[in-house]
Amino acid sequence: MKILYAFLIFFAKTAADDGVLDINVPHLTVKAQNAGNITLQSGLARDLYLEPGPGGKVIFDGEDILEIIKMAKTLPPVWLPHAHNGFFGTFEGGQRIHVKLEARDPENGPLEYQLVAGELPTDVTLDETGGYINGVVPDIERFYTFTIRAINNQTKYADSVFKMEVLSNDNCKSSPCQQHGTCIDNSNNTYSCVCPEPYSGQRCDTDCRSNAFGVRYKNKIPDAQMSAYLSQSTYLASNGRYSGSSWCGTNDNSWLQVDLGEPKTVYKTLYQYRSSTYYVNGYTLSVSLDGVNFNYVNDTSGLHTFSGGASTYTNSLPSPTLARFVRYHPKGYKSGYYPCMRVELYGC
Ligand SMILES: *[C@@H]1O[C@H](CO)[C@@H](O)[C@H](O)[C@H]1NC(C)=O
Ligand SMILES: *[C@@H]1O[C@H](CO)[C@@H](O)[C@H](O)[C@H]1NC(C)=O
Ligand SMILES: *[C@@H]1O[C@H](CO)[C@@H](O)[C@H](O)[C@H]1NC(C)=O
Ligand SMILES: *[C@@H]1O[C@H](CO)[C@@H](O)[C@H](O)[C@H]1NC(C)=O
Repeated sequence: MKILYAFLIFFAKTAADDGVLDINVPHLTVKAQNAGNITLQSGLARDLYLEPGPGGKVIFDGEDILEIIKMAKTLPPVWLPHAHNGFFGTFEGGQRIHVKLEARDPENGPLEYQLVAGELPTDVTLDETGGYINGVVPDIERFYTFTIRAINNQTKYADSVFKMEVLSNDNCKSSPCQQHGTCIDNSNNTYSCVCPEPYSGQRCDTDCRSNAFGVRYKNKIPDAQMSAYLSQSTYLASNGRYSGSSWCGTNDNSWLQVDLGEPKTVYKTLYQYRSSTYYVNGYTLSVSLDGVNFNYVNDTSGLHTFSGGASTYTNSLPSPTLARFVRYHPKGYKSGYYPCMRVELYGC
């Protein structure tokens, strides 16, 4: 060290005339020129060492060279063998999946994942930081191919190709439709039943002939959906529900109307008298889809005669009829009294 120092002094001094530091010993050249160029040069097949002290840096054009070397040395992530051969699995439509992506960072650093090619099924997503594939597989037969990239915190990455087979689920396998209904296997992992008359419902398990719309219940047919023409003061339309306190009209021009809220297929109607003096001898029905244009349901069996013995009568319509509004038109009542009715409707 002392010797080199002596050389430096010596040569710096000797080269001082042209403003240049020039050290030349066998196999070593150190030059600092006026123009600012610095040259460090070792001889043929001789090494050049830059060794910072412990914790020190080697800065090159503002960059920490040691840090750059460390990054360059970092190895890319590695996909574990069973994931690397690419197969992901066979799934049934509607199945919920939660699959861990099996890549590791050789440095044990954190990994992130990206979908870089192909597509995942609808409703299936990549959890980029958690490293999972999550979701519900659609119930449509299809083959999916996609590439997922595992990236470490030094932006080194490795890709893996996955293949995923989806088999459609046979949702009709258990023959869920009753009454010989036709089962349709939907693409959203459900089934639908096409039901023969007079059946309806999810599994054709509703007999429309005995399925009450619930006129008797205010929570099914609210007061606002009960109306009438020429009512008796306190016997308003909203009382005209089966088991209610009864609607009473004024004469045969009066009518009681039920709004089912939306078009429904009506199969049957029920009439209940108010008392043995306040009743109707019979009634006809008219129906409407819009509340303006009404058609009569010409059902002679609906024109029954009150026998005095029974308080309720049910009548099937001649054929199932699509209607939203149903009107009851009284036909005859006890002389000196009023036509009074309480009603229910059946259908789907
Ligand atoms: C300094 O280096 C540059 C680039 O190599 C060169 O063009 C220039 O001539 C050098 N200056 C001197 C004084 O050697
Ligand atoms: C990357 O992760 C490793 C291991 O956890 C950690 O030592 C290193 O500091 C991280 N580097 C960066 C740039 O976050
Ligand atoms: C499933 O699909 C059927 C037929 O397209 C549809 O009627 C039904 O509302 C759907 N069900 C759900 C839960 O999406
Ligand atoms: C149906 O009955 C209504 C009321 O009783 C009547 O006005 C109409 O003419 C009848 N229609 C038919 C086609 O018989």
